[in-house]
Amino acid sequence: NHDIRIAPSILSADFARLGQEVQDVITAGADWIHFDVMDNHYVPNLTIGPMVCQAIRPYTQAPIDVHLMVEPVDSLIPMFAKAGANIITFHPEASKHIDRSLALIRDHGCQAGLVFNPATSLHYLDYVMDKIDIILLMSVNPGFGGQSFIPATLDKIRATRQRIQDHQAKGGQPIRLEVDGGIKVDNIAEVYAAGADTFVAGSAIFGQKDYANVIAKMRAEIAK
Ligand code: DX5
Ligand code: ZN
Repeated sequence: NHDIRIAPSILSADFARLGQEVQDVITAGADWIHFDVMDNHYVPNLTIGPMVCQAIRPYTQAPIDVHLMVEPVDSLIPMFAKAGANIITFHPEASKHIDRSLALIRDHGCQAGLVFNPATSLHYLDYVMDKIDIILLMSVNPGFGGQSFIPATLDKIRATRQRIQDHQAKGGQPIRLEVDGGIKVDNIAEVYAAGADTFVAGSAIFGQKDYANVIAKMRAEIAK
């Protein structure tokens, strides 16, 4: 399926040689670089910011998919856009003015999206379906790589896919459906079957020596 995107999360990469890791994983067949931003406030962990995004930007032409796990969000949006981000997503409950934050992302030339924690309601989509390019569903609680996939996410993926279909039936723009957390070779097929088209995987890819082999296996599972 040519519409599939595999987005390795560099959270599980070797931070001491991040440029090389980015280059290697794209050469290995990945489509996007998933960039996890944590602030030790919205989530109990601290990672990387716009300066690191700018530092890896020259290492690949692939889209950088910035997942903001921060509160507040707005001040970081222009900084990430300038640092070379292509897609920026944020958690709606972390922004006081969701519509404004989404507009800010698009005004800065990036694709915009909302992220839903496992227990966050999809109602945040109600009035902004025409203002988003991507919906990101968390299949773990955000904060750490290497957690297990929460099975209740599968129903939520199906419900979200239905919303996207209804939106498109009314002439709406295309919207990607991305899933993040605990995705492995042995469960990616059911995540795909539930309706996802974009797959984040951190530990499953960077935890193996041969990135190309894992990515090829993921694609083969989806194609089955
Ligand atoms: C979790 C992050 C994920 C995480 C995925 O807070 O948003 O992107 O790195 O890692 P795995 O694939 O190991 O669950
Ligand atoms: Zn993420």
